[in-house]
This record gives sequence, structure tokens and C-alpha cells, in this order.
Amino acid sequence: MKYLVTGAAGFIGSAVTERLCAQGHQVVGIDNLNDYYEVALKHARLDRIKHDNFSFIEMDLADREAIANLFAEQKFNRVIHLAGQAGVRYSIDNPMAYGDSNLIGYLTILEGCRHNKVEHLVYASSSSVYGLNQKMPFDTADSVDHPVSLYAAAKKANELMAHSYSHLYGIPTTGLRFFTVYGPWGRPDMALFKFTNAIMEGKEIDIYNNGDMSRDFTYIDDIVEGIIRIQDVIPQPNPEWTVETGSPATSSAPYRIYNIGHGSPVKLMDYVEALEESLGVEAKKNFMPMQPGDVYMTYADTDDLFAATGYKPAVDVKPGVQAFVDWYREYYNK
Ligand SMILES: NC(=O)c1ccc[n+]([C@@H]2O[C@H](COP(=O)([O-])OP(=O)(O)OC[C@H]3O[C@@H](n4cnc5c(N)ncnc54)[C@H](O)[C@@H]3O)[C@@H](O)[C@H]2O)c1
Repeated sequence: MKYLVTGAAGFIGSAVTERLCAQGHQVVGIDNLNDYYEVALKHARLDRIKHDNFSFIEMDLADREAIANLFAEQKFNRVIHLAGQAGVRYSIDNPMAYGDSNLIGYLTILEGCRHNKVEHLVYASSSSVYGLNQKMPFDTADSVDHPVSLYAAAKKANELMAHSYSHLYGIPTTGLRFFTVYGPWGRPDMALFKFTNAIMEGKEIDIYNNGDMSRDFTYIDDIVEGIIRIQDVIPQPNPEWTVETGSPATSSAPYRIYNIGHGSPVKLMDYVEALEESLGVEAKKNFMPMQPGDVYMTYADTDDLFAATGYKPAVDVKPGVQAFVDWYREYYNK
């Protein structure tokens, strides 16, 4: 099959591309290689994907004409849309980046799918859509109408936009709410990477809300396995569905939303301890108040993912953090 993977130079996109190519699929990857974090790492991720069935095109999602031409020329069977401006905190100071990449850019992908009969669009949403929700675990049946950052609001908007296209044009769409993804080839703007950098340089690490936070940390291989399985589960229309009786994660249209998380929250301080053990160094900790846009805890209910794919993410934090540290030492030669 022929796939478009957007964000192919990104953390999750490069790992998904690698898996699809290894399975023998043809993959076209696009990415604008922006400098939100070190561009060399994006190039290095692309260099890993050494398959004849992979081709990479540098392209911006917001370039309507280029994206429309790409879809018309390539005739993709399926699209896995992982490009976008990531990061909750960055969205506080740089909201426009999210308008361009996550709203306009997302619409260009929907339009491409609409005009070229793509059989399934799988796209990245986020656990951040749960916003002010305090009911645990987070269930896709819960309300997600109260985001606490523009990043989260744009992800929720993506889900709504997908629903309108699934309804109007019958495009099967699946939105995946990822829960704090970490592991080798990860993102330098995320806690694990930042902590590792700081600890190795003998600097302090900033610990928000005085360490009183939990995250449902999800290992990259678990995320990839979930994506690979779910893209084979093409949502079907359900004429029996009604707003009154059905879950908001489903529809009369071919539309689905899933959580992909480990399904067990880990305290931030336990995560730090796992990192200290892996590095063999105790961190100097700078305890800070809660950051704007942050949430206290994330915790995924993964029953729907399991029911649809038979898969439940399984890698625990200790081996996951160890695998990250091993990769980090090798990659940076430290
Ligand atoms: N990693 C996580 O913990 C996590 C959690 C929830 C949601 N997500 C979402 O999953 C997706 C992938 O995340 P990731 O961790 O791989 O992030 P990433 O930043 O490593 O990957 C995203 C890629 O998209 C590219 N990109 C950004 N704007 C673009 C544009 N306008 N045109 C073309 N390319 C563009 C970037 O260059 C980058 O390589 C994102 O949508 C992110 O918001 C990630």
C-alpha cells in the first residue's frame, strides 16, 4: 500500500515510517524540518530510514498548493498525519505557529483526503484535550470541552474538523490521543530529554508543581504498535448511532477517537528517580510552581484501543527510561 506520513522527520513520524517501510509498504514522508528543536536530530532520524520504498519531500503543511499537488500526483491509499507544532508550553508564547501548522495545515490534509479518495486518515490528537477534566482515568466518553492551552484547543478542533469531513464526504478518520510519549530518538523539548541534558552537565532540573504531578508515560514502541494496528481498523458508518445514545468518540459517520497511553500514571518524582538510576547520578532539583497550561495528572483508559486491536501498551518506565539513556549516550557520544 502507499502511505503518506506527515512529520516523517519527527519523533513519532520517523518511527512509524520505519515500521511501515519494514512491512514492505511504500511511504512518502513530508516534513518542513523547522527549527523548533535541533534540526540535526530530524535529519538523523530521516537518515535511519534506509529503505528503497521510502521517499522524503521537504514541504510545509500550510502550503495549500504543494499539498494538493502531492495528493493528486501520489494517490495515497492511507494517510498518517503526525506533523504539527507540538508542545503545550510553547503555545503560550507562540500561538500563531499552532494556527498555521495545526489548523490551516490540518485542513490542507483533510482537503487532500477529500479530493483523492483516501481510504483512512489517522491523525495525532493529544491527552491535553482532557483539559480541566478531573475524572480518572480519562475516557474518550468524557467531555473535552475545556482545554487549558491553545495547543489542546487546536487538537480538539482537529477532532471536530475530522468529524465534519467524515460526515460530509464519508472519509474514515481516526484520531489518536497520545499520552506523553518518550523513548529513543525523542524530543529535546520534553522533560526526559531536558532532564538528561541538565543532569549530565551538572545543572539543576526544573521540577514543576514541586514534583506533585503524574503522567501516563507511553513508550515509543508501544505508540508505534498502536498506530500500526489501528490504521488497519477502518472506521465504518453506524446508522444506529445517535448523539443521545452513542459515545462522542464514535459517530454515525466513519469517525473514531482512541486514547493511546500506557494506562497507569507515574509520579513525576518516580520518573526522575528512574532517570537518576539509569544515569547513575543524583539530580540537583529546582522545585517550581505549576506552569500555565499544565495539568496535574494524565491517565488513559485504553479499553477501546484494546477492544479494537487486541493491544495494550506494556513497556514500563524503568526499562523505557533506560532505553532512552542508552540511546542518548550513544547518539551524543557521552
Ligand atoms: N510526543 C508526545 O508526547 C505527543 C503527545 C501528544 C500528542 N503528540 C502529537 O503527535 C504528533 C507528533 O509528535 P512528535 O512528538 O513526533 O513531535 P515532533 O515535533 O518530533 O514531530 C512533528 C514533526 O512535524 C514537523 N512539522 C511541524 N510543523 C510542520 C508544518 N507546518 N509542515 C510540515 N511539517 C511540520 C516538525 O518538523 C516535526 O518533525 C504531533 O502532532 C504532536 O502534537 C505528541
